[in-house]
Order: sequence, then C-alpha cells, then structure tokens
Amino acid sequence: MNVPRNIDFDYKLQRISSLRFAVFDPYFLNLPLDPYIQEKFRRRRFSRFQGPPEDLKRLEHKYFEQSAAVNKLAGGVKRDFAELEDQLANLAEFRTLVARFVDFSKIDPATTEIGIHQIRIVAAKNMVGEPAPEGIHQDGFDFVGIFCVKRENLIGAETHLYESPSGPPIFAKELQPGEFVLVNDRRLYHFTSGIKPAGSGDGIRDVFVMTA
Ligand SMILES: [Fe+2]
Repeated sequence: MNVPRNIDFDYKLQRISSLRFAVFDPYFLNLPLDPYIQEKFRRRRFSRFQGPPEDLKRLEHKYFEQSAAVNKLAGGVKRDFAELEDQLANLAEFRTLVARFVDFSKIDPATTEIGIHQIRIVAAKNMVGEPAPEGIHQDGFDFVGIFCVKRENLIGAETHLYESPSGPPIFAKELQPGEFVLVNDRRLYHFTSGIKPAGSGDGIRDVFVMTA
C-alpha cells in the first residue's frame, strides 16, 4: 500500500473547548435529506475546499464518489449532495475547525483537497439512526477527521476504530461535542454505532467529517 510519509500515527483525539459550537446550530437545521439512503435518518451537505484555512477556497461543485471496494452500500455511485452554505463556510469558527484538521494531519492545504461533510443523524421512536450504515469501513482517503458538534437526547453513537475489520476495536468512545478524532484512514477502519432517542422526541447527532 502506498502510505504517505507524513502519516506517522494511527489516530489522535483532541478536545476543542475554546469554540462556540452553538454558532453551527442554524446550519444543521437546514440540511437536506440524504437522497442516497432509503430511510430518513441522515441529512447532509458536502463541499470540497482547498487553500490555507484563513484563505479557504471552495472548489467547483462535484459529486462525491467512493469505490465499491471501500463502500459496500454506495460505492461506485456518484452522489450529488447540496453544497455547504456560504455563511457557514465563512464563519471564523468553521475556519478554526479546518485549521485544526490541517494542523493535526500536517497536510499541505495549498495542494491538498479537503472534503467536508456536514451530517445530522436523527433517531426517532421507530427509527434507529445509523451514522455508518455501511458497517466497519475505510473512506478511501489518507485522513478522516470526525468533529462532534452536538449530541442531543440520544443513546449510542459510539465511535470505534479497528486495525482489522474482523478484530476488536482499539478505540471506542462516544464523541462529545467539541471532541475531534483524526484517523489514519490508510491504516485503520472506523464505525459509529446506531443511535436511539434517550427520552421523548428525536435524538440528534451533528458532525463534520473531513477527509483529505
Ligand atoms: Fe466513514
């Protein structure tokens, strides 16, 4: 396997306590349903960016595609998601998240495309929300970063990392708002367990997933 030299870790976990995560709330209320799954538990947008975080440029609109080798459910499908909203992408707090991803992964932002998925998983009384319906998987990138923005009224969503898809997890944690895990996607596999509402009403989990 062609492993870039700058990946010298399996995963890193960090808490970003300085950020006002509530500023992201309105943009998660406005997410379209993911049209590529039958159930209605996932809402998402996707955009690609390049450049240093202080001068981040959105790349032209393009579909998102993974190979069938890494995604059993949607591999080989050109998935066309709505773009992240401009106001969101221009927030200083959003740029801080991107900067953290760049710092942590040590990618060169001038030459490396960063894919950013904005995802809300919803669980209802009769609907389990599946953050990873494809099961234990890799995304087919060098790095995958998961930023937890919100957990509300839910049970579950434990993020697992594996050295092998058939082995035991080497990391298992319910990511809390403000927590960020960066994963070496060349080396590890990841999965997040399903969610159920903890009380009455819907359960909600909001994340940004970044890939490079
Ligand atoms: Fe993934």
